[in-house]
Amino acid sequence: MVDALGASLAGIKAAPLLTPQDRGNSVALKKLVAGNWKMNGLSSDIAEIQAIAAASRDFPGVDVALCVPAILIERAARAVPAFPIGGQDVHHAEKGAHTGCISAQMLIDAGAVLTIVGHSERRDAQRENDAEVRAKAEAALACGLSVILCVGESLEIREKGGAIQTVLAQLDGSLPGQLAAETELAVAYEPVWAIGTGKVPTTDEIAQMHAAIRDRLVERLGPQGKEVRILYGGSVKGSNAAEIFAVPNVDGALVGGASLKMADFIPIVAAAQ
Ligand code: 13P
Repeated sequence: MVDALGASLAGIKAAPLLTPQDRGNSVALKKLVAGNWKMNGLSSDIAEIQAIAAASRDFPGVDVALCVPAILIERAARAVPAFPIGGQDVHHAEKGAHTGCISAQMLIDAGAVLTIVGHSERRDAQRENDAEVRAKAEAALACGLSVILCVGESLEIREKGGAIQTVLAQLDGSLPGQLAAETELAVAYEPVWAIGTGKVPTTDEIAQMHAAIRDRLVERLGPQGKEVRILYGGSVKGSNAAEIFAVPNVDGALVGGASLKMADFIPIVAAAQ
């Protein structure tokens, strides 16, 4: 029974979020603004998702996506069929005895086209390590999901001067071995101390980190490393988005709190256009 179900799911593939050509080129990648709803949202919020999807159509120069709680994915995807809906985590295994977990094929089956992996809240609360994050990213990409892979340092590490070294080590440990042509990998730099705090690194600090991430991506992936969009995340708002988007190698944002309401989120999308 389980095997038959697994076999039928094995054929499921997500539609690609974007082809490399659509994403632009190494000189200027099209910006991606993705919302991470975290553990927020009920069926009564589907109307807000519809409002965000509708308003996003006014900004064709920006890719917009929402990563919603797993239980809302199917309803959201049905409500906004042309708009990319994603998950916030995925299990590395195809199926099996993993109580409470969700596989890549299940996300796709529900209508997701992308997923976040390695968010610092999961690295912290669920004790996820780099190897596990890499396995999750590889499982998702192999099934046809695009992936937003998160990295970021704690305040303690930033104050000790080890931010770049720590983030590059996370990247080394969690970056998938190879990319697939039809799915996208994006990296989100999210300093843990900037998440939900209203604190944001200086534009110089963001520029330094994103340049270091870009160099490491090119070192590891060759020319494909130039096509990986590097998002900034942590207290992005309508009021600071334009300044952040102007920083070299910032190819978009991963937005938490300000993605929950269209009135807060769309100004960020507008700033990316
Ligand atoms: P905030 O935008 O609420 O700071 O959250 C950032 C984040 O963690 C997105 O994944």
